[in-house]
Amino acid sequence: MQTLRFLITGGSQGIGAALVAQARQAGHQVVFTGRDAARIQQVATETGAHGLVADSAADADNARTVETCRATMGGIDVLVNNAAYGYIAEIGDIDVDQMRALFATNVFGVVDLTNRVVPMMKAQGGGDIVNLASTSGMKGGKGGTAYGGSKWAIRGITQCWQAELRPFGIRVIAICPSEVQTNWGGRTGRNNPNKLFAGDIAATILAGLAMPRRVLWTELAIFANNPWKED
Ligand SMILES: NC(=O)c1ccc[n+]([C@@H]2O[C@H](COP(=O)([O-])OP(=O)(O)OC[C@H]3O[C@@H](n4cnc5c(N)ncnc54)[C@H](OP(=O)(O)O)[C@@H]3O)[C@@H](O)[C@H]2O)c1
Repeated sequence: MQTLRFLITGGSQGIGAALVAQARQAGHQVVFTGRDAARIQQVATETGAHGLVADSAADADNARTVETCRATMGGIDVLVNNAAYGYIAEIGDIDVDQMRALFATNVFGVVDLTNRVVPMMKAQGGGDIVNLASTSGMKGGKGGTAYGGSKWAIRGITQCWQAELRPFGIRVIAICPSEVQTNWGGRTGRNNPNKLFAGDIAATILAGLAMPRRVLWTELAIFANNPWKED
């Protein structure tokens, strides 16, 4: 695989941090974002990637992120829209302001950042956009109005962008992991060897990107093969 210039949102922990590390190990240039300065500094030091404190719900931060990519790497070949968080509440009990805030990060932040990156990719004649959706965006479930709704939106938006960007050589991919053992939703401390780890998702994303450029892998659901196995 040739050396590429990655922008990864939410690279300070979890799937994003695993992807920062694996992309750097493969020799790629990486700019990544997050909100927690200490975690960002740690990932940057460990990987040699360029970390940036930037809230993807803030338009001004997204503008600064793209400018940093221009300044440090000269452009962006791969945009990974990974930053997102959860809010679980059932209808009748939803705090709509919390749901609006979640959509500002999980949906509108993705649209705003990508809106700024696509003209650059069109001008350079191609690129890849990887959108982290979820199996929560493939099947509705209890408490999933806000988070599941945001991930259904990301899958639909991904299909719109595929229709718009295929003629420009820009591939848009939706990745839909099942449960991954990260700190997502404060669920720390899980270490089940049979369930998915952040590194599994990172490796799968890099495998998708390594496909011949003729190949557009539109959407991929990722499950653990045998999560019920007793060790
Ligand atoms: N874990 C799962 O089971 C699972 C399953 C399916 C899909 N996913 C999706 O995979 C992606 C990564 O999830 P994860 O499990 O790795 O979550 P995680 O461990 O909670 O990490 C989330 C990352 O996103 C960043 N982030 C959140 N909101 C942000 C914002 N407004 N601006 C900038 N950065 C922000 C966090 O940064 P700070 O920590 O610095 O704030 C962190 O680096 C998400 O899109 C998630 O919805 C996860």
